[in-house]
Amino acid sequence: MHTVVAIPGDGIGPEVMTSVQRVFEAAEAPVSFVVHHAGQAALEHGAGEILPHTTLSAIREHGLALKGPCTTPIGTGFRSVNVALRQSLKLFAAVRPVRNMPGVPTRFENVDLVVVRENTEGLYSGIENEIAEDVVVSMKVATRRACERIAHWAFRYASQRERTKVTVFHKANIMKLTDGMFLEAARHVHASEYPTTTYEELIIDAGQMRLVQDPSRFDVLLCENLYGDLVSDLCAGLVGGLGVSPGANFGEEHAVFEAVHGSAPDIAGKDLANPLALLMSGTMLLNHLAEARKDDRAQVAAARIKRAYDLALTEGARTRDLGGELGTEAFTRAVVARLT
Ligand code: NAI
Ligand code: MG
Repeated sequence: MHTVVAIPGDGIGPEVMTSVQRVFEAAEAPVSFVVHHAGQAALEHGAGEILPHTTLSAIREHGLALKGPCTTPIGTGFRSVNVALRQSLKLFAAVRPVRNMPGVPTRFENVDLVVVRENTEGLYSGIENEIAEDVVVSMKVATRRACERIAHWAFRYASQRERTKVTVFHKANIMKLTDGMFLEAARHVHASEYPTTTYEELIIDAGQMRLVQDPSRFDVLLCENLYGDLVSDLCAGLVGGLGVSPGANFGEEHAVFEAVHGSAPDIAGKDLANPLALLMSGTMLLNHLAEARKDDRAQVAAARIKRAYDLALTEGARTRDLGGELGTEAFTRAVVARLT
């Protein structure tokens, strides 16, 4: 068994985490979860801080985590747990696959793209200051090292998965130094190491228009931190919403798998959350285990789980966000019942 840190998180987090744990168990996934907390949940469990060092050291020890969403207060209050976690563990690459789901009607068919987001700097560096009365600034940070690291990661990911095109979304016309450096890094990695991969640069305004006109023209989308965050939810909307949008954060040593969505306070505790986004993040974790630790059992479990939820969706089992009527628990049972 592989030990994986489970962080239920806030809002709908505990509900969707319970669902994933049920499915994993029923599918005989070779994973044993140890629960650690982050976010407001950590305070409620008496940790005294929102990102307890015991949680961080458990991830460092076991290398892998499955994480529910953590609430971040708007405007004032504490810094984002998510940003802090990604920075502390150097999880520099966020990857969010975006694909049509069987039985989920959307405006577009043939959507199959992957958002690769730089996860450690840009405007999420958290460097904000009041420089004079009523004047505040937020610092956008780009380092050559991080720009090249994410460009390498994106091109390598594309080539390993037989994806043929990398598109960079940028705003280097305005942010000439920061986005300029991001582009230079991508160009350099493309030209020097992956010349056969098709490479494209789009100013993000027009890029987004093209995304909502014809998402099928995109393959791998490489973005700095803020653009990747924004584009991820837009892409989720192309294939059925946040309920079906999984993700993972990779560093050199650790990986944390989490859905794109947040803690959804509007539906928390009501048995309304779609657990699929976290479940799909869980299957990404299993496939990662299979690849990184050469464990075929993980791959078998991932395939079983995917078959089961695909079948459930095809047969009309859906939560409300997808136009269905099932609650979180009933949908979970529907998936478990279809595990073969
Ligand atoms: P959100 O993603 O939590 O919710 C946006 C909308 O999508 C809501 O109407 C919600 O009900 C719906 N939704 C989200 N996930 C769903 C699911 N699994 N099933 C069904 N419906 C779902 O975004 P929001 O409301 O902007 O943020 C809420 C909190 O979450 C904030 O404190 C934010 O900082 C935090 N957040 C945390 C993230 C993380 O931990 N990785 C990511 C995004 C937001
Ligand atoms: Mg986001």
